[in-house]
Amino acid sequence: MPQRSDNHGIQVHVRHVVIALEHMISLTGFTDVHHGKRVAYIATKIGAALGYRGEALEILFNAGMVHDCGVSTQRLHGALTRTFIPLNVNTTEHCNVGHDLLADFSPLAYCAQAIKYHHTPWRSLKAANISSAHAEMANIIFFADRLDTLAQQRDVIDTHAIVEITEKLNTATNVLFSPKINEAYISLAPSKSFWNGMESASVVTFVNAHEFSLQDQIIVGEDIRKMARIFGRIADQKSRFTQHHSHSVGLIARFLAQRCNLPLPICEKIEMAGLLHNVGKMHVPDHILDKAGPLSLQERAILHEHPNHTYDILNHIKGIEDVTLWASSTHKTTVETGSGVQYQPYNMEANIVKMANAFRALIEDRPYRWGQSLSDTLATLIEMTRQAKFDPMILEVICAYPEDCLHLATT
Ligand SMILES: [Fe+2]
Ligand SMILES: [Fe+2]
Repeated sequence: MPQRSDNHGIQVHVRHVVIALEHMISLTGFTDVHHGKRVAYIATKIGAALGYRGEALEILFNAGMVHDCGVSTQRLHGALTRTFIPLNVNTTEHCNVGHDLLADFSPLAYCAQAIKYHHTPWRSLKAANISSAHAEMANIIFFADRLDTLAQQRDVIDTHAIVEITEKLNTATNVLFSPKINEAYISLAPSKSFWNGMESASVVTFVNAHEFSLQDQIIVGEDIRKMARIFGRIADQKSRFTQHHSHSVGLIARFLAQRCNLPLPICEKIEMAGLLHNVGKMHVPDHILDKAGPLSLQERAILHEHPNHTYDILNHIKGIEDVTLWASSTHKTTVETGSGVQYQPYNMEANIVKMANAFRALIEDRPYRWGQSLSDTLATLIEMTRQAKFDPMILEVICAYPEDCLHLATT
């Protein structure tokens, strides 16, 4: 068993993690990156109309924000949001993936049931092995999700559009949706402000201003590690070529940090950075990640943007600023964010993550080549270090423990 600490005082707010997760997941929408925020907004409005208060509204908000955490690809996001009844797609699979991601993570485990059943018809929910309270929450998320799909298909939400959307939802009531939830929606629909609240600027303001009691909950200790693993697993599910990638990079990075005699708390943070380094890849189109040939200059430029997205996602989580910098430095030495932040992240921790990432990437199969042998991987890293792309001291550690690194890269 590896030696473990309590993550040495790292504390983060659940609220920040929810916002970062939603940011990451909704990037799969590409031209529309607010699906989770709108579902949270609609769900809390309906919940409030049904009399939900405090903790119950909190669950609806958080479950709405992260309801699609089982969706990592642009392809699946498109299939689920293009039509009212998704075509040619298994709608249950991402619900189960999302449930399994959160069920063991106590700060958000209470959302897992609502996520598991957020595409289950009301008629079938009554027979499912689920409490009536969870069933209703799951159905509110389902209703909000489908309402958002209908609203996003419209260029303008005018009276005519509202009538058509309402008719569509009415026809699905009793089968897909609880009549009570539909009634709550009908009480909201005449209000112009309800629809205005779904606009991009409004929904971002809604999320940022949103404060409920439980959102001050703090994540510490083992849950910090679980949190990083959840982000890593969502990123790894983006492509079949990157399954377990972030997990392995975290392990290799931790091993290298230990062999560099860094203190245990730093080793743990470096492992976290390895787990988190690919979260920005959610905004890389599927066809680029899975392309079975060399990337064009334009495709390469898009791919190389992902550390900036990694930074922007993780920057929501206050308390892990150093981890965020190391995680965003795997391909670049400078990161420019939307707010114009720039930094020079050259430091040993960032370079360890960068080397661990390169080692694992060379060993694993890619759509355009097979994984390299250990000797070829070492030769490539030696050559790249000669070109000043990596820290020679960290290369020395890899060369001293190649079999250990290989074992961790294939774990
Ligand atoms: Fe969904
Ligand atoms: Fe959704």
